[in-house]
Amino acid sequence: MTHAVSQPIALRDTAAGIPELWRPKLVGALNGQAVKVARLKGEFIWHAHTGEDELFLVLEGELRIDFRRGGEAEWSRTVGAGEMLIVPRGVEHRPVATDEVLLLLFEPLGTRNTGDRDDPIFTAPTDVVL
Ligand code: NI
Repeated sequence: MTHAVSQPIALRDTAAGIPELWRPKLVGALNGQAVKVARLKGEFIWHAHTGEDELFLVLEGELRIDFRRGGEAEWSRTVGAGEMLIVPRGVEHRPVATDEVLLLLFEPLGTRNTGDRDDPIFTAPTDVVL
């Protein structure tokens, strides 16, 4: 069995070309995992993923992610360009991009961007190719 080898994918250019904010686009898939890019600006909604860990890799800009769990106080992490952070399943999080951020996401295929939340504005179709 042969497998096609793709062309290299320019991640930042691809993310920068996405017309809508907060709408991840699939650029590849392997072993049941999705590689997505997204263009972010502003504040997303609080949500958690019950069954999936999510990897955030910032391609450009600076992304703040707020966290909360149970009755604990909220805390934040700031992820800069070239840095990554893994959000463990079950932990509530809210990405905030004060200025525009280009992002790579690595998570299982079928992972919904708003996780356990159904939001009329922010919930996006999953695994959409640009
Ligand atoms: Ni999430």
